Amino acid sequence: MIQPLFIANWKMNKTVAEAETFCRAFVQQPLPIDRTVVVCSPFTALASIRQILPNTIGVGAQTMHQADSGAFTGEISAPMLVELSCQYVIIGHSERRQYFAETDATVHEKILTALRYNLKPIVCVGELLVQRQNNETETVVRTQIQAAMRELSTDQIANLVIAYEPVWAIGTGLAATPEQAQAVHALIRSLTSAQTRILYGGSVTPENITSLMAQPDINGGLVGGASLDVQKFLQIINY
Ligand code: PGA
Repeated sequence: MIQPLFIANWKMNKTVAEAETFCRAFVQQPLPIDRTVVVCSPFTALASIRQILPNTIGVGAQTMHQADSGAFTGEISAPMLVELSCQYVIIGHSERRQYFAETDATVHEKILTALRYNLKPIVCVGELLVQRQNNETETVVRTQIQAAMRELSTDQIANLVIAYEPVWAIGTGLAATPEQAQAVHALIRSLTSAQTRILYGGSVTPENITSLMAQPDINGGLVGGASLDVQKFLQIINY
């Protein structure tokens, strides 16, 4: 049995002060011991939230560069994240693929770098609406997963976190149905391992999380909008 994992993806939201306010309120409420919780804040707030959150709650970045250091103006490297006690990093989010030219090839390089620094990659995959309409979902997701896992050992694959996020469901209020999600999660399971944590993302809310979590291959959620609100995120964790 895989322990349910819930990850907040704040995207480009919350100043340091706002992030601190969230975390102070968040730690007031007890979390169920059988759930793993991770908060992925903007880079600027990582150090502050790590100070406030107990070690039982993970902290992660939303992206990183694949090189260890170098002339990459504006970028952040894996050793910089490790220094801030980050344990996780989101890699290949569809917004990074869409607006920042990330490809299956850069996603793969970033995964290798993250693993080299003992950062747990949260690898995002998912199809566009037009791809779903053309019945290409399986091909798209299979290609993304196979590119991501190239050169990884069985152990590394077991330790990956994969987030299936249909692009048409992100921030739209139109989540995949539990059946639609499960069909893709089953495919991802067949390509990875029984231990790999496979999260659903895309308009997760306190209202739809229970039916999503009832699916056999959904091990948790990558939560955007609803994770900005302490009570909503807690309700999702306590589904
Ligand atoms: P959403 O975002 O929950 O706001 O749809 C999810 C994500 O992009 O990770």
